[in-house]
Amino acid sequence: MRFLLVVLTGCFLLGWTAACSDSHVDETERRVEELLQQMTLAEKIGQMNQVNGRQLDEQMLAELRSGSIGSILNIEEPSLVNEIQRIAVEESRLGIPILVARDVIHGYKTIFPIPLGQAASFNPDLVELGCRIAAKEATEDGIRWTFAPMMDVSRDPRWGRMAESFGEDVWLTQVMSLAMVKGFQGDSLNNPEAMAACAKHFVGYGAAEGGRDYNSTFIPERQMRDVYFPPFQTVIEAGCASVMTSFNDNDGIPSSGNKSLLDGVLREEWGFDGVVVSDWASVHEMVVHGFCEDDKEAARLAVNAGLDMEMESRTYIRYLEELVAEDKVSEAQIDEAVRNVLRMKFRLGLFEDPYLRRYENSSAYAPEHLDAAQEAAEQSMVLLKNDMDLLPFGDNIKRIALIGPLADAPHDQMGTWVFDGEKQHTITPLAAFKQMLPSEFELLYEPGLSYSRDKERNGFSAAVEAVQASDVAVVIVGEEAILSGEAHSLADIDLKGAQSELVAEVSKVGKPVVLVVMAGRPLVIEEEVKLAEAVLYAWHPGTMGGAALVRILTGKVNPSGKLPVSFPRMKGQIPVHYNHNRTGRPARGTEVLLDDIPLEARQSSLGNTSYYLDAGLRPLFAFGYGLSYTKFQYDDLVLGASEIGVSDTLNLSFTLSNTGSRSGWEVVQLYANDPIASVTRPVKELKGFKRVWLEAGSSQRVTMKLPASKLAFWNIDMEHKIEVGAFNIMVGGSSEDGLEGRFWIVEKL
Ligand code: GLC
Repeated sequence: MRFLLVVLTGCFLLGWTAACSDSHVDETERRVEELLQQMTLAEKIGQMNQVNGRQLDEQMLAELRSGSIGSILNIEEPSLVNEIQRIAVEESRLGIPILVARDVIHGYKTIFPIPLGQAASFNPDLVELGCRIAAKEATEDGIRWTFAPMMDVSRDPRWGRMAESFGEDVWLTQVMSLAMVKGFQGDSLNNPEAMAACAKHFVGYGAAEGGRDYNSTFIPERQMRDVYFPPFQTVIEAGCASVMTSFNDNDGIPSSGNKSLLDGVLREEWGFDGVVVSDWASVHEMVVHGFCEDDKEAARLAVNAGLDMEMESRTYIRYLEELVAEDKVSEAQIDEAVRNVLRMKFRLGLFEDPYLRRYENSSAYAPEHLDAAQEAAEQSMVLLKNDMDLLPFGDNIKRIALIGPLADAPHDQMGTWVFDGEKQHTITPLAAFKQMLPSEFELLYEPGLSYSRDKERNGFSAAVEAVQASDVAVVIVGEEAILSGEAHSLADIDLKGAQSELVAEVSKVGKPVVLVVMAGRPLVIEEEVKLAEAVLYAWHPGTMGGAALVRILTGKVNPSGKLPVSFPRMKGQIPVHYNHNRTGRPARGTEVLLDDIPLEARQSSLGNTSYYLDAGLRPLFAFGYGLSYTKFQYDDLVLGASEIGVSDTLNLSFTLSNTGSRSGWEVVQLYANDPIASVTRPVKELKGFKRVWLEAGSSQRVTMKLPASKLAFWNIDMEHKIEVGAFNIMVGGSSEDGLEGRFWIVEKL
């Protein structure tokens, strides 16, 4: 009897909870409808208008009072937020609070590594923590909506915004995008420390032709659905609050006016009920694209495509009322957009709690925040080379020459898209060496160059002298922060200024060289890598990057980062991403290269395969590659079955051994390939990864799962299907090699 009572109570509670959450949803919808019914057309259109807080003036305050503004971004002074909110709430007719927004991309005050660097950690938990911290710091200043995560799969390092992306792989981008959304939004959007996330830029922006920002894209539907959609669908299914349309025209249609994308895919296919916001002036820019005659037409196209809120270009507030009067836009269409905006405001709890809670001591730069940023930087750095185990520094290293324009660059070290991080909090490598090196170390610092584009070599001699007087040279080069990020594409991605010459001069001294690169993208560094015994890619590592670097160089941390992007040998190799199609003439890797071509070679004597005579096919460093101070060995791959059904999961296991002398993390990676399919498929794709800790000398049986569903793709008939047949898998420490296996998928076991 007692058991029955417990069960019944449980069922009641479960039912009640479900009913509550449903009733909560219904309650929100009820409140949306109730408010919508009270609104004039002008007030509705006001909710669709997002303005630039940097231009706050009397006119804007008047617009707040008249209910003509729904959201403000970039309010520079947090103390203004409550005043603005007060006017909206207390002085407008309906008192609808404002959505206060900002680009909080990789930290607010405490700056974390750029997203490309965070992706290199292959640690979604750490990425989520970083966004949780950013949300806590930013919401204290009244920011409840961030325009992040940027989840544009990006495969062209000439594109400056690769810095903001998670790189070239779909699955890694899905995992990291979800981690960021969960971090920003937390468990409940109506928590005052929650920040609405924004999935951007929808869609395909990372495929800008030539890597030139804002350029057109030509992505066919199949690739759009296989590569560019999945991260967005993943976060929308997880409750991401908003989506931002992208600047690019794909196949001639700008995203902000693409009805099949916004109404079709987002709303009808994926059931998205959040807010779709334009990018900065991207509605107006449809005129510049030549997609429409004028701003009034742009407003019509955008709102009818399903764009809820216009950022900055004010075509909505200027023309929508007129367009409704002319029957070119229905009020029902306006109502749909306004429902989405009001729903987001109710979900954020803004009607109950519109004012920011600036604590006496904000949590900005709190020790635990800095610790998390340091750990993120440590796990983002990728060891690319370590000849003679130069690193970590051994007892023979007592005098260190610290060289290079990025050895003490507190602003640039933070990277792109930093509005609120303050450089005085940055721990640079110079500062860290000074703070952390034991007294027995001697540090000689000579930048050699003043900044990354500096061509003046008058600092070289002092740098060379410092190296001559030292046991090792740590040379820190790369990019100033401004050289990556939005509108900062590069046609040449080699080291700027005289940095290469500096590395060469230092290497001539004959002391061991550690090359450290701080950049927002892969750079072409093949020659510089040859001149160094050890190479560490630090990306732009954020506030605590210097401390992270010194801890790695001195062995307090064993580096574990893996590359989220392939590194080209030369820019002409781009695109060089690993997940390419096989082609009908795949390179064998044994092709004759330029210097070995015999004289008067006959036309097809070299063999006809897909590679570059002067670069081969392989990148300098492959996706997923990264060394450790220890050695990991993969053995004994066992597949749980030789065949599975389309609704089954393949279990697999292998033995991972730490055969070196130091404990450490290994990011084990699982790749799959569909060798024969109704359309050609990539030679391999990442389908899973996990970080495994192993003490020196220990081994562990690692298990991984591969659901058949992860092998579905958009087939020749444009259906999202798993095609039965053989599949190849590989597990390893990079995309280039590992243990291989084959299994079959059948309709039904
Ligand atoms: C920019 C960017 C977008 C950003 C927005 C607001 O142009 O493309 O990513 O969120 O404008 O700053």
